[in-house]
Amino acid sequence: MPRRLLLLAMLALWPVFALAQTNGQPNQVLTRIAFGSCAHQERDQPIWAAVQAYKPELFLFAGDNVYGDYLNGKPVTDDSRLIESLTLAYNRAAMNPDLRELRNNVPHLATWDDHDYGKNDSGADFVHKQEAQKLFASFWKLPASDPRRTRPGVYHSVNFGPEGQRVQVILLDTRYFRSPLKITDQRGAPGRERYVPDDSPEKTVLGAEQWSWLAERLKEPADLRIVVSSIQLVADGHGWERWGNFPRERTKFYDLVRETKAGRVIVISGDRHIGAIYRETKSTPYPIYDITSSGLTQFFSAAKEDGPNRIGPLFGAVNFGTIDIDWWAAQVTLSLRSMNGEVVRQQKIAFSEITPTP
Ligand SMILES: [Fe+2]
Repeated sequence: MPRRLLLLAMLALWPVFALAQTNGQPNQVLTRIAFGSCAHQERDQPIWAAVQAYKPELFLFAGDNVYGDYLNGKPVTDDSRLIESLTLAYNRAAMNPDLRELRNNVPHLATWDDHDYGKNDSGADFVHKQEAQKLFASFWKLPASDPRRTRPGVYHSVNFGPEGQRVQVILLDTRYFRSPLKITDQRGAPGRERYVPDDSPEKTVLGAEQWSWLAERLKEPADLRIVVSSIQLVADGHGWERWGNFPRERTKFYDLVRETKAGRVIVISGDRHIGAIYRETKSTPYPIYDITSSGLTQFFSAAKEDGPNRIGPLFGAVNFGTIDIDWWAAQVTLSLRSMNGEVVRQQKIAFSEITPTP
């Protein structure tokens, strides 16, 4: 076969060779992790060059990894066509050369948010969720034996590194089991833009099965835990999607961290088309940080919101997040980085600040 034809054939088959999600390396000491969310398959994605230049040892896809409910620049409003458009979105993403390079070269893990679950702001009542989960498993090349191919929901956890330097990554599914949101009565009003908090005790974000799975994970030994929640856990002061719309569930998360004595939990999130870093100290066992990076292509430059527990201003341009772990200085550094890889927001956290007192 002529060399050019061979190259073309290899290029066509390239997605087949993309590496599956990582199972973790028990001996790999992680020091550089990158993450991001909200990557529209119909947009250019030049930010991947900066992600690659950071040389992450692990990349976490925090959801809205494709916009399955958009086709040719328009939202898909006919529910019966959502699986078709989600399939096309994944096909398109698989062809993106920069994303392909990242998936081939950088170990990675993923969860979903509404747009790759299949429908804007949807939850447990989304009728095509089983088909959407099959597409997720296929795009992310989950092994045949992976429980995410057989049980409902894409929640998952992986450990990296030896005792003393072990990173536990917990990826939550905030969609498959989530109860309906309470719609605002003042659409667009600051702090009540779309949704308002709902205190009903029967409402859930994670669902019973995932909650008990999470409790078991938090009891496992680890030296740093990264919880990937597509929607923001800690953020207050806005009426878009967030855990704060289910205040009992958010309190339950903090209580579970306290009860399991799980140290050094850090949350990463996406979804919002803004970047920001938050810290909660009220009713938490120790300060819980949530770093939101959104998005890889999607951003809301005019974003303005109260941030009672936000550290510093919002960042309203494309961005990705990084987590630098200095095991020897016992410190972790959370950063938001711009299109060029420059740090635009940063928070250093000493391990001692997020270690519970025995
Ligand atoms: Fe989202």
